[in-house]
Amino acid sequence: MTHAITPLSFKPSRLDGLSAKLVSSHYVNNYGGAVRRLNAIEKRLDSLDLATEPNFAINGLAREALIAHNSMILHEVHFDGLGGKDEPSGPIAEAITRDFQSVERWRKRFTAMGKALGGGSGWVILAWSRRDGRLVNQWAADHTHVLADAEPIWALDMYEHAYHLDFGADAGRYVDTVMRNLHWGRISQRFETAKARRAPIPPSSGITPEEVLADRTAMLLVDVRLPDDYAASGMRIPDVAWHDPGRIEEWGPRLSRGRKVIVSCVYGFEVSLEAAAALRRLGYDADILAGGLAAWRAAGGPTEAI
Ligand SMILES: [Fe+2]
Repeated sequence: MTHAITPLSFKPSRLDGLSAKLVSSHYVNNYGGAVRRLNAIEKRLDSLDLATEPNFAINGLAREALIAHNSMILHEVHFDGLGGKDEPSGPIAEAITRDFQSVERWRKRFTAMGKALGGGSGWVILAWSRRDGRLVNQWAADHTHVLADAEPIWALDMYEHAYHLDFGADAGRYVDTVMRNLHWGRISQRFETAKARRAPIPPSSGITPEEVLADRTAMLLVDVRLPDDYAASGMRIPDVAWHDPGRIEEWGPRLSRGRKVIVSCVYGFEVSLEAAAALRRLGYDADILAGGLAAWRAAGGPTEAI
């Protein structure tokens, strides 16, 4: 496909403290350059004879394509969020407050990250993380640094070409100035779109290893791995008794009562789900260890040899 230029959403001459010359040069030369470069690289890649082209040439073009592609996208996000002078309000203000405690605290952290990049180059990106279902401030040393599951909501360009014409080497003054020119209406639209397109992954059912580790004494852990899995693993959670899940009718009624019972198998699928259901039928407040022993170990939970 041929990538098309996205028009500017505002008149550069109406920005406060940023010259039209700077913004126009940035848009035409750096953003436009990325789009033109990406189209040229992809055309070249399409024309390659992959049977004869050396790997270094394929790698080089693919790397340059990624750089140009992300440069195009991040510049579009950057320009789209300029042209206003309002403050965040509505759902995006609520999300920022939830994820950074306050809009002011977010702004301080975001601008500090931008100013810290002043001696070099890169981006600071306000992004929506699908995995965590929250906004994050993401650091990027170049166009290829992106949080893998996240969608950029606004991007602060910290390449010298974004400010040198007006501010010389004074990156700090550029950051303060550009932050006065944000169009929160458009940034908010981007946030709403990202949130709708990428709903957070629902957490797996059960009690997470982190919850158990935080308050282990409040719960009675029971290892219900299948006998062969238990023997083959050579390890267990310290001080956690193993019971054969095929014989719950024998050991189930003898468990101590009064605490929530958490049963764990290898990965937290049907073995522990069925054991927890059987224990609930016996009157226990029972649940599974989400992700089983594998998630326990991945979370840094202790184990010992058996
Ligand atoms: Fe730029």
